[in-house]
Amino acid sequence: MPDSPCWILGISALYHDAAAALIRDGVVVAAAQEERFTRLKHDPSLPLRAAAWCLEEAGITTADLTRVVFYEKPLRKLERMVVSQVLTFPWSLKAFRVGALNHLGDRLWVGSRICKELGIPQDRLLFCEHHLSHAASAFHGSGEAEAAVLVADGVGEWATTSIWKGGPDGLQPVAEVRFPHSLGLAYSAFTAFLGFRVNNGEYKVMGMAPYGTPRFVDEVRQVVDRVEGGGFAVDLDKVTWHHSATDSYGAPFEALFGKPRHPDEPLDFSTPEGRRWADIAASIQHVTESLLLDLVRTAHARTGAEALCMAGGVALNSVANHRIAREGPFARVHVHPAAGDAGGAIGAAWWAWREVLGGGPCSPLRPDLGPRLDEDHTKALLDDLHVRWQRLDEDALIETVADDLAAGRVVGWVQGGAEWGPRALGFRSILADPRGPDQRDRVNATIKFRESFRPFAPATPAECLDERFDAPAAAGSLLPWMLAVVPVKDGVQEELGAVTHVDGSARVQAVEAATNPRFHALLHAFGERTGTPVLLNTSFNLKGEPIVNTAVEALATFDRSGLDVLVLGNLRIEKSTR
Ligand SMILES: [Fe+2]
Repeated sequence: MPDSPCWILGISALYHDAAAALIRDGVVVAAAQEERFTRLKHDPSLPLRAAAWCLEEAGITTADLTRVVFYEKPLRKLERMVVSQVLTFPWSLKAFRVGALNHLGDRLWVGSRICKELGIPQDRLLFCEHHLSHAASAFHGSGEAEAAVLVADGVGEWATTSIWKGGPDGLQPVAEVRFPHSLGLAYSAFTAFLGFRVNNGEYKVMGMAPYGTPRFVDEVRQVVDRVEGGGFAVDLDKVTWHHSATDSYGAPFEALFGKPRHPDEPLDFSTPEGRRWADIAASIQHVTESLLLDLVRTAHARTGAEALCMAGGVALNSVANHRIAREGPFARVHVHPAAGDAGGAIGAAWWAWREVLGGGPCSPLRPDLGPRLDEDHTKALLDDLHVRWQRLDEDALIETVADDLAAGRVVGWVQGGAEWGPRALGFRSILADPRGPDQRDRVNATIKFRESFRPFAPATPAECLDERFDAPAAAGSLLPWMLAVVPVKDGVQEELGAVTHVDGSARVQAVEAATNPRFHALLHAFGERTGTPVLLNTSFNLKGEPIVNTAVEALATFDRSGLDVLVLGNLRIEKSTR
């Protein structure tokens, strides 16, 4: 066991969603994505600002760090690119030139850059394999003594899908699928085909899938399909990601699915073209769910474990997560909330603590690991800007904001530390009445400015969940993190018109009093007024921007949108009095 306090800084960077996470004796004390500081969505750059904030939050300097851990092995990644080039020459030459130059420019020297920027010696820097970082993020902190672990993403060094067995001695590899066969890259190819940005628009594909019927399943299975033994393979003649740095599909792919959608082309599911795109989305979603269920059953058969832990970008597919929990063989399913590459920062740090330094068990994550509001600072800011505010104590704040929401006002709600992961969980949220579709359309048209087909999510107190939502028991740990889309019960779909998707589902958040007491109390107060202890909860940001981090960003977003009320901690600001 290492000496206490043992501080470890985990870093993920240089692909997308860079993040830094600081753990003390296995407990995550601070974690944030770089985008929240630089305001560049999915910012991949070395997270120096996030790391500096983590250290400041803990009141330590880099001299106090026992280890710094990077979430992948740059040399192995370069090896994959070189070998891929040899295997696919001459197609790959351009891809290699572009990819290798980027790689050599940043990633290869990331170790020396981290040491220089943080002022730490080389012998304190560790590198953890990419999928091991993901696996550690899912398993350590799950509370399970033993579990199967499934990681699925685009690609790390070589692995694109991996199965592990987690136990008292750490994580042991069980099986893996290697590049160029990749479920994540296949989903991203369809994301690009449907006119969305890769590594950003995948959840839009998932959101439009219920508008279609999966009539292209046979064609999708010509691109990616299961193989004997529970894995899958990609037909490499149909895709181009193994020999192109810019495109993921080509003519043989288009021969199967038709003309791709231009990003500016409007999405209208009442037209034949719109329906074709929705049908393609439904088909890749269907095949992805089916392949994941195969992988999950394989993981169960190979490990004999009762619980499943998942991470990797594919594990953010909350529709698939529901099916895994409902139809899969595991009694309990856990997903790391920042399942994409950001989560690798925590995973890498936990791996070093548990498996390199021999530390004890890791504690479960709390949701609000990011920067906090400072009330004095916020008051000074508002006064400087001549913004009128009122300070309310806890009870009055809950009652007043519940009145606001029941009166149809849309509220920007900023409390405590910012959420870890891509979802707003009641710390940096926009809240509204979930009843009837009017509020949905209003939030979309005046605040979020996003595609009308994308659903909003409901939040409800955990103890009220079963009243309106049909969640499988195995999904219990997913619901506080909004990681599963579950059916809305018959009879309340109309009541929850603003948050029920076209197929009668919702990505519900079960809010727990222990981890978010103020939001939990607000939901009950709204329920007392309306009979519906549910709120529409969407992330506090405008389209294309990261979630707000600070009071000044919240105020700027309040000014530029149709929000009626802004709450910053105990301070309440009305748009009409500004
Ligand atoms: Fe990854």
